[in-house]
Amino acid sequence: MKINGDVVSLDVEPWVSLLDALRERLGLTGPKKGCDQGACGACTVLADGMRINSCLALAIQYDGSEITTIEGVSHPLQKAFVRHDGFQCGYCTSGQICSAIGMLAEHASGMPSAVTVSDELSEAEVRERMSGNLCRCGAYNGIVDAIMDVAG
Ligand code: FES
Repeated sequence: MKINGDVVSLDVEPWVSLLDALRERLGLTGPKKGCDQGACGACTVLADGMRINSCLALAIQYDGSEITTIEGVSHPLQKAFVRHDGFQCGYCTSGQICSAIGMLAEHASGMPSAVTVSDELSEAEVRERMSGNLCRCGAYNGIVDAIMDVAG
């Protein structure tokens, strides 16, 4: 697979999650293990441009795919998160930013959300589309402001 632009050959057992392969085999510790059950979003990475919970994915499913972790991201959202205090402890931030990049791409492609009312991305829509990414510090207002800043 290609990871952050580099071709990587990975020899993993079939039960190894993509998250564990990234963190433990490749030393890419940006994606975090929060719940390991698909409930918190801390492990979010981009697989061929789509956001996924890497704790729920088997590494072997992504044979030949292009994976982007926060280590490979260079996006205006990163500075926007700093400008708007979109984090406190930072544990969820890599997942939040990868998820937001995927979310903006989903919106741009016309994929509707449960609260979509127009082509313009609303704050309510951002909150709904980002609802799979939890922040235990409660930095949601800053996260949404950062995304709206970049989206607008
Ligand atoms: Fe994957 Fe929580 S660690 S969703």
